[in-house]
Parts: sequence; structure tokens; C-alpha cells
Amino acid sequence: MWTTPRRNLQVLDTLVLLGLVLVLINVNGVESRTVRILDSFGYPVTGCSRKYSASLADFGGVGDGVTSNTKAFQAAIDNLSQYASDGGSLLFVPPGKWLTGSFNLTSHFTLYLHKDATLLASQDESEWAVIDPLPSYGRGRDAVGGRYISLIFGTNLTDVVVTGDNGTIHGQGTTWWDKFHKGELKYTRPYLIEIMYSNQVQISSLTLMDSPSWNVHPIYSSNVVVQGLTILAPVTSPNTDGINPDSCTNTRIEDCYIVSGDDCVAVKSGWDEYGIKFAMPTKQLVIRRLTCISPFSAVIALGSEMSGGIEDVRAEDITGINSESAVRIKTAVGRGNYVKDIYVRGMTMKTMKMVFWMAGNYGSHPDNDYDPNAIPVIQNINFRDVVAENVTMAARLEGIPGHPFTGICISNATIGLTKKPKKIQWNCTEIAGVSSDVTPPPCNLLTDQGPANACDFPEDSFPSVKL
Ligand SMILES: *[C@@H]1O[C@H](CO)[C@@H](O)[C@H](O)[C@H]1NC(C)=O
Ligand SMILES: *[C@@H]1O[C@H](CO)[C@@H](O)[C@H](O)[C@H]1NC(C)=O
Ligand SMILES: *[C@@H]1O[C@H](CO)[C@@H](O)[C@H](O)[C@H]1NC(C)=O
Ligand SMILES: *[C@@H]1O[C@H](CO)[C@@H](O)[C@H](O)[C@H]1NC(C)=O
Ligand SMILES: *[C@@H]1O[C@H](CO)[C@@H](O)[C@H](O)[C@H]1NC(C)=O
Ligand SMILES: *[C@@H]1O[C@H](CO)[C@@H](O)[C@H](O)[C@H]1NC(C)=O
Ligand SMILES: *[C@@H]1O[C@H](CO)[C@@H](O)[C@H](O)[C@H]1NC(C)=O
Repeated sequence: MWTTPRRNLQVLDTLVLLGLVLVLINVNGVESRTVRILDSFGYPVTGCSRKYSASLADFGGVGDGVTSNTKAFQAAIDNLSQYASDGGSLLFVPPGKWLTGSFNLTSHFTLYLHKDATLLASQDESEWAVIDPLPSYGRGRDAVGGRYISLIFGTNLTDVVVTGDNGTIHGQGTTWWDKFHKGELKYTRPYLIEIMYSNQVQISSLTLMDSPSWNVHPIYSSNVVVQGLTILAPVTSPNTDGINPDSCTNTRIEDCYIVSGDDCVAVKSGWDEYGIKFAMPTKQLVIRRLTCISPFSAVIALGSEMSGGIEDVRAEDITGINSESAVRIKTAVGRGNYVKDIYVRGMTMKTMKMVFWMAGNYGSHPDNDYDPNAIPVIQNINFRDVVAENVTMAARLEGIPGHPFTGICISNATIGLTKKPKKIQWNCTEIAGVSSDVTPPPCNLLTDQGPANACDFPEDSFPSVKL
């Protein structure tokens, strides 16, 4: 019942049957044609013009919601991996409910979910390999030692795409959350998608639900695009972070809608002495057109694990609704390195506990071996064009005693307060910076520059993401 992967033409036929838009472009009247497939957001779906394709059903997959497809997925991808250097391949997941444990991706490869396809993550722990802790963390986050591998896992890859016409990946996280609350986890919970040590990664046009823990975790990777994801989890579910770029260079996160029990986007780069030693920053990160609902966490968090450094982050067109804070910097003595050159422009918020929050005393160490002299430097943090309504407290800005956070700039920020606001709207300690056109009036440590002094937002672009 296994069949030879079909050629190019059939891939396109399959996709046309799926109702995707094919745009044929005539180049100078010559016969050569460029084929572009657009997803429902109107983005070109890269990685769909693979030379070979196969359906999960060709490898014995059964989409009945009951049969395990772990072996079918791995057999399909193992087979398709032979085409990595011959035009690449695409694995198509047809309509149905596909129960599966973890499987590994390959290079020059696209996993494509039909809009009516749902991957159901197995709740059977034997379907999840246990792998080493991340070197930049030194241990698992839920338990010392190893961690369950992610549902969709890839390492040391080039050119890998996980996409679909808004097909669904359902983490069935409830049993994992229960085990977490009861302290019954032997290893750290799995994530839905983790890609390590890879270049040219795209994760797009999918709905992710009820992850056991984090949803999307690109780590030690470059040229990463995360686009058009809907990520949903109960707002009380533990550690269901949306997207966590971690020690990555050149990442673009755009057009995502996230409801979660933890930070919607959490930018990271390793934990205390392990992150300092691994020394891989997250840099050149763009986050735009993000909508977040996260009543107990941040729309965008920088940290708390930032020990490889975080720099060159640009966030734009950010909407926060019923969230604890907007952009939050979390760090602690022992983290070392820096969070610097952060630029945020255009935030619209409604019903927020706080708008600005920086904390130098976040705590939470992997063990007691962290270096008390590893003081993180927080510098050049810029916010402009902020409108918020129904806010309880404008800002809590708390640097590290003796090591203030510097170069903070806030301009053109209008913060409307709730009926019962905090008496003190700006609580600032150990920080330095400037402000312009901010209401309610900020603390004295943010020196008023007078009206119309906008904070910086660089207009140049990062080296283009190659995809
Ligand atoms: C995998 O690829 C080979 C071609 O190398 C093909 O003959 C075979 O049918 C495919 N499927 C399986 C299950 O091996
Ligand atoms: C997937 O990759 C991980 C890490 O390299 C490995 O431990 C695991 O055994 C692989 N799984 C399969 C099914 O090959
Ligand atoms: C993956 O890449 C990392 C970093 O280059 C390297 O240390 C590791 O050995 C590679 N792993 C595999 C399985 O090739
Ligand atoms: C994708 O599906 C989710 C969940 O059903 C829905 O909320 C979202 O609007 C869909 N996105 C698109 C682009 O159709
Ligand atoms: C202030 O911010 C608002 C909301 O983003 C924007 O519409 C307005 O143009 C900004 N004003 C200036 C002077 O930049
Ligand atoms: C305003 O915020 C409060 C919480 O501080 C909330 O209970 C209330 O529903 C919000 N009002 C509106 C109109 O969203
Ligand atoms: C202001 O912040 C300081 C330092 O974190 C804290 O000790 C103090 O209680 C806060 N004051 C108010 C009124 O929130």
C-alpha cells in the first residue's frame, strides 16, 4: 500500500483541488512560468513547489482519531528525506483526525495540513522520546534532567516548512496540565513544534490548540518566519506560551492571534550560567500585527531566560486585550548579558493591568550555581505611539539596585485608566530615561523632553530573510 511519491504536477493538482489560488506569471512572454500558491492570508506559500509529494494515507495513515499514526508519519518522512537533494518533498495530511506521537522532520521538506486535517497529540507518554535538556538551559523547566521531545520536532535542518490552509494541531494538553499541577511529571512537558539548529524555517497558516506547554519554539536557528498562526489555550493553562524565539537570528513573527495562559510571545536566549556559556543571543527579531489575550501574562516578554543576550528587536502594530502587561522585561542577577536596542511602535491596548513592566528581580534560577556577579545590562528600550484604555497601573519599572536600566524612552503614549486605578501610576526605581507626550505624567526618572520628541524606531531593514 506504499506508493512512490508522485512528481511535481500532482503536488500542484492536489493543491488546486484544495482550492488554493494559483498565480501563473508570464516572464517576458517566454514559456517559463513561475508558480505561486497563496494561502488564505494572501501570502505566497513557499515550500509548496516541492518536486515530490506523498499523502500520509500512502504510508498507512488512518485519520479516525483513534489509530496511532506515529509510525506512518515517521515512515513517510524517512522515505521523503531521500529527495532532500533532488527538489525536496511535501507530505500532505488529508482531512481527518490524525492521532500521533512525536515525529521528526527532514530538510527541504514541507508538512502541509489540509484545512480539515487535525493532528491530535497522543496522551500516551510512550509515544514521546525523552531527549537531553537544552544546552543553554542546563535542565528541563518542569523537572531536572531530560524532556519529552516536541510533537513536531526538527534538528540540524535546512529549508523546512510546517504549514496548511489553517489546519489544526491539537495538543490535548489537559492530561499534561493535570500532571504538572499534581507534580507527577518525570520529565519536562513537550512543546507542539520545536526546531533546533536549523536555517530557513517557516511555520505558517495553522491553528494550534491546547499545547501541553509552549506552542512554537525555534531555537539555535536562523531565518525563521512564523506567520498567520492562531494559537488558543485556556487562559489559566500552565506555561502555554505562544511563540518563543530562543537564541535565533533573523526571525519574523507576523499576523498571529494568540489567546494563552502565559506570554503570547516570549523572547529568550538561555538560563543563567548555561545560557552565558552557550552564548547565543536572539537578535534581529521583527514582531508585527500581533493580537494577544493573556490575562495573567505579557503580550511580549523579553526573558526571563535572556542569558545569551537579546538585541535588535522591533515590534510594531501590537494589540493587547485583557492582558497583564504589554511589553515586559524580566531578568535577574545571575542572568548576565543584556537586553538592548528594543524598539516598539504602535501598541493599542484595552483592559490591561499594566502597560509597561520591567523587573530586575524575577528570580527563578536553574540551580544554585549561578554567578551572583553576572548582572544583566538593560539598555536602549524605546516605546512610541501607544494608546491604552481601562488600565489599572501605567508602569512598574524596577531596575537592579546599583545597576539601573538605562536609555528607556517613552513617547506619544496615552493611557486611559480604569474606574479603580492604582494611586501611584508610575513606580520607578533604578531606571533612567526620557519621555515626551505621555499621560498620565511619568515618573521623574523619565526626564520630560517636552512635546514632539519621538523615541527612535529604525527605518532600515534587517538583512532579508531568505525563503
Ligand atoms: C519510498 O521510496 C522508494 C523509492 O526510493 C519507493 O520505491 C518506495 O515505494 C517508497 N515507499 C516506501 C514505503 O518505501
Ligand atoms: C527524533 O530525533 C531525536 C533527536 O535527535 C531522537 O532522539 C529521536 O529518536 C528521533 N525520533 C525518531 C522516531 O527517529
Ligand atoms: C547539530 O548541530 C549542532 C550545532 O552545529 C551540533 O553541535 C550537533 O552535533 C548537530 N547534531 C547532529 C545530530 O548533527
Ligand atoms: C483559522 O481557524 C481559527 C480557529 O477556527 C479561526 O479562529 C481563524 O479565524 C482561522 N483563520 C483563518 C485565516 O481562516
Ligand atoms: C501618536 O500615536 C497615535 C497612535 O498610534 C498615532 O495615531 C499618532 O500619529 C501619533 N502621533 C505622532 C505625533 O506621532
Ligand atoms: C475594565 O477593566 C476592569 C478590570 O480592571 C474590568 O473588570 C472591566 O470589565 C473593564 N471594562 C471594560 C469596559 O472593558
Ligand atoms: C514601588 O516599587 C518598589 C520596588 O519594587 C516597591 O518596593 C514598592 O512597594 C512599590 N510601591 C508601590 C506604591 O507600588
